[in-house]
Amino acid sequence: MVENSLSPAAITNNLDTRFIGQRVIYYPRLTSTMDVAKREAQQGAIEGTVVIAGEQTAGRGRIKRPWLSPKGSIALSIILYPSLAYLPSLIMVASLAVVRCIDKVTGLKSQIKWPNDVLVNDKKVCGILIESDVRGNTVDYSIIGIGINTNLRLSDFPEIPPTTTSLSHELGREVSRLDIIRCLLAETERLYLALPAGESVYHEWRDNLATLGKKVRVKSGETTYEGTAESVASDGSLLLRQSDGSLTKIVAGDVTLRN
Ligand code: BTN
Repeated sequence: MVENSLSPAAITNNLDTRFIGQRVIYYPRLTSTMDVAKREAQQGAIEGTVVIAGEQTAGRGRIKRPWLSPKGSIALSIILYPSLAYLPSLIMVASLAVVRCIDKVTGLKSQIKWPNDVLVNDKKVCGILIESDVRGNTVDYSIIGIGINTNLRLSDFPEIPPTTTSLSHELGREVSRLDIIRCLLAETERLYLALPAGESVYHEWRDNLATLGKKVRVKSGETTYEGTAESVASDGSLLLRQSDGSLTKIVAGDVTLRN
């Protein structure tokens, strides 16, 4: 059993960041880290404040889906105050940080399913939820929520679909949540600070996408598209080649691989 303390002191001790994770709020058990992070951001919490839960009782995913995060999972939310221009890049920053840290800490190779699920051996191991408050041209706050199925025995959770996995399941042993969390905070900051320098984050994100070149079905709002995922634009949107030859730009959606 590798379980180790997720206390703020253990997380922040010699953490290699300027601001992300220098303030940590930890709850052993919480409804959702997004709720606390939102309240903190509305009260002007310092940028980089991180809310972490040992387990969540009402974790939420994209499109109002519930997100299961029992003990052994990683559930955290990072508060940022980016400029509007960087908002679309946060998805890339977060999913790339997860890919880098899964590799660094476990050696497992992962890939990104557009826009921001992280897969190991083609199964979902991580979900990312970004909630922002934007007024006019100003971003009041953005919260990056990251959930990683870390030390979950899949057989304990029959409700988990067969398309989902955990790091411990893929690795055959438990993983240090502390190591992954500390890595995530450092990599998120590195990638976030790299945004003003140009397109390197976009290129790395694109190169790690599992989706490109595949036949996909994309549900976006009430519309379902089918076609080949041809490429992604630097604003993060997906370019889908449909059977009539047209190219459709999809800003947000849920992808199912068809082959
Ligand atoms: C998804 O795949 O739909 C996104 C899942 C995001 C889950 C994380 S866990 C930490 C944070 N708190 C939440 O309630 N949700 C996000």
